[in-house]
Amino acid sequence: MQPDWDQHYQEKHTPWDKGEPAPPLVDWLANHPGRMIGRILVPGCGLGHDVRAIAAADEKAEIVGLDISPTAIEMVREIPTVSIERYREGDLFDLPEGMLEAFDWVWEHTCFCAIDPELRDDYVLAVWTALRPGGSLLGVFYLDPYDDEHQPGGGPPHGTSLAELEMRFEASGKFEIVEQYLPEQAYEGRDGKEMIVEMRRLD
Ligand SMILES: C[S@@+](CC[C@H](N)C(=O)[O-])C[C@H]1O[C@@H](n2cnc3c(N)ncnc32)[C@H](O)[C@@H]1O
Repeated sequence: MQPDWDQHYQEKHTPWDKGEPAPPLVDWLANHPGRMIGRILVPGCGLGHDVRAIAAADEKAEIVGLDISPTAIEMVREIPTVSIERYREGDLFDLPEGMLEAFDWVWEHTCFCAIDPELRDDYVLAVWTALRPGGSLLGVFYLDPYDDEHQPGGGPPHGTSLAELEMRFEASGKFEIVEQYLPEQAYEGRDGKEMIVEMRRLD
């Protein structure tokens, strides 16, 4: 069963929100200056920490943070912007016309692991559709989110593996994986449990 995301934000019960951008993203931006440019989509942006980190790295980037929770979008719009980033309430699986083939990059962080694993092929299609041909998906994928509270099959979060990512993104013919590595930086408790993967949209 999918959580009621909006209720989580209404009740301020958002344990995934660490109050700062994903450390693997901060590290990647520092090591790849000037690469993530143009129009950038951040699906499941929550309170926008990653959006602001990307905006701070390139003041010309047109970043759209998308979230299905109206409360999250209301809250994030109260936070001062650092550049020209903006936020939009919406469903990744039902993107409006103006967001189709519209982005140079998609940044993925804890959206893929939040959705029902049965919808993962739909996620691949949604991100492929949002990107322009040749556009890039960069994500930090949660391989092992399991602990005493969360067990496989009981998420979100739902874990994944490189083999699954290859199967869903590459074997579908929609993406090619350009690079993957275990990030050196992570939120406390996530060390060694995530993987950075960069992919390129195929035509
Ligand atoms: C686990 S939270 C992560 C939020 C943010 N990335 C962070 O790390 O703080 C997952 C987010 O995805 C959003 N979400 C879930 N399904 C979505 C969908 N179909 N389209 C857009 N956003 C969605 C939720 O509202 C929630 O904010």
